[in-house]
Amino acid sequence: LSPSPMAALPRLIAHRGLSASAPENTLAAVRAAHEAGITWVELDVQLLADGTPVIWHDATLKRCSNGRGRLAKLSLAEARRLDVGAWFDAAFTGERMATLDEMLALIDTLSMGLNLELKLARGRDPAALAEAAVPRAMAKLPTTRLIVSSFSGPALEAARGLEPDPTRLRLGRLYDKIAKGWEAEARSLEAFSVHGDWTRLTEARARAIKAAGYRLICYTANDPEAFAPLWQWGVDAAISDDPRRFCGRLPDAV
Ligand code: G3P
Ligand code: MG
Repeated sequence: LSPSPMAALPRLIAHRGLSASAPENTLAAVRAAHEAGITWVELDVQLLADGTPVIWHDATLKRCSNGRGRLAKLSLAEARRLDVGAWFDAAFTGERMATLDEMLALIDTLSMGLNLELKLARGRDPAALAEAAVPRAMAKLPTTRLIVSSFSGPALEAARGLEPDPTRLRLGRLYDKIAKGWEAEARSLEAFSVHGDWTRLTEARARAIKAAGYRLICYTANDPEAFAPLWQWGVDAAISDDPRRFCGRLPDAV
């Protein structure tokens, strides 16, 4: 049996949803990705003060809402009062911060795939984040439509502790520059994928990652011409603020 198209990792993943066209990490950004024909999104998850996992990138509220202060200090009721759309465009006024549960329900309804990034703000507990987010995501999405990634080794180790079987939970080790120790870390995690900043990736490292049998996913790729050589190096997927730019500019063979 060949896997269904939805089961395959696509070439393009919308970064924080279709963040070029909608406020990042919102339900609106995921709907926009779907409407643009993108099948997978990358989203960041963190915990509120009461332990609710929500979709949010920054440690603070200022950049992407009408609030101030730290996300981790908010209750769910306080988080819900924020407007998380108007900062991007008045057309998104009234957009509310999404809980992970709401977001998973939407992704499931749209039959999309998710790269869920466990985003660990300084001083936060990696195991608590993994315990709140990973079982919820696994309960809602099939294995082939979920990759859990993180810059935090301890968060990934906690996730692997929750599901030791690598065929049931795909983990992605996330780096800025993919440095020397990547292979030992990926092996001990039984990782599915290695993720890195494409501007800091070398051809030799890309080929080594592929030769070792891992998927290689790069962020944040917004310039299809500059990115073109990386497909030849074996990069599997690009996380982009605007995957539409890559339309007609992907390699033939998948
Ligand atoms: O997961 C890839 C990318 O999202 C990592 O960086 O800061 O955009 O979450 P950041
Ligand atoms: Mg991210």
